[in-house]
Amino acid sequence: MRLVTAMPTRVDHPLDLVDESLRHLPYATGSADRIMFWDVSTSSNKPHCLIVGPTGGGKTSVIRTLLTEAARRGIPFVGVDPKMIELDGLEGYPGCGAIIYDALRAAMFVRALHTEMMARNAYIHQMKIEGSQLPLMIAVLDEFFILSGKWQRLAKTGDDETKALLKELDPLGAWADLAVLARSAGIRLLLGVQRPDASLFGGAPVTRVTTSAPVFRSATSRRTAR
Ligand SMILES: Nc1ncnc2c1ncn2[C@@H]1O[C@H](COP(=O)(O)OP(=O)(O)O)[C@@H](O)[C@H]1O
Ligand SMILES: [Mg+2]
Repeated sequence: MRLVTAMPTRVDHPLDLVDESLRHLPYATGSADRIMFWDVSTSSNKPHCLIVGPTGGGKTSVIRTLLTEAARRGIPFVGVDPKMIELDGLEGYPGCGAIIYDALRAAMFVRALHTEMMARNAYIHQMKIEGSQLPLMIAVLDEFFILSGKWQRLAKTGDDETKALLKELDPLGAWADLAVLARSAGIRLLLGVQRPDASLFGGAPVTRVTTSAPVFRSATSRRTAR
């Protein structure tokens, strides 16, 4: 399989970063009223990030915050948005490789990400270098369960060609590998889900952000929502 474009490795961002850590991506938490960080550095003990919350709780808002902060730090990203209205505003943003909406294309992407990870690991092994010497990248999947539901339906009801392709791509199998192996290859995973599921990261420790039900919504955000 050939990718339409290569995985991004750098970002040309117009804003300079002043006095901020390069590998700590900040996000605000309403409840604690303080800035928290997702540590994406090699030494991080929670290198991937899981954002859990109900619809309207603010998952996508946190994702957008983290991605724009990543771009400012020179870390590119590729996103999957099965709802088609969540991450589309990030298309063309500095450091954004692509936003993928279609479930079959998303399956191709997850398989391609797996291939990238294997290639990176082979490179690290052959060149005898540290994983930290490779450029970091973030792969984001918003609404993971909507996506995996679409894959399951396509596998049952798709035409023969689609079924065969999905079987070959095996996106859930690729994801399971990524969850445990992507860390050392410089790939960070950012997932938005409605309900927690311990198996999403194979039990590996992740930075976990919980967004609450939209009861604390301000008058300003109600106005924008209308
Ligand atoms: N911390 C927050 N305070 C006030 N409004 C917020 C906050 N986070 C998100 N919102 C608003 O709430 C709405 C839903 O947020 P969104 O991120 O789309 O939720 P989700 O992705 O969980 O469905 C949006 O209009 C967004 O601007
Ligand atoms: Mg959302």
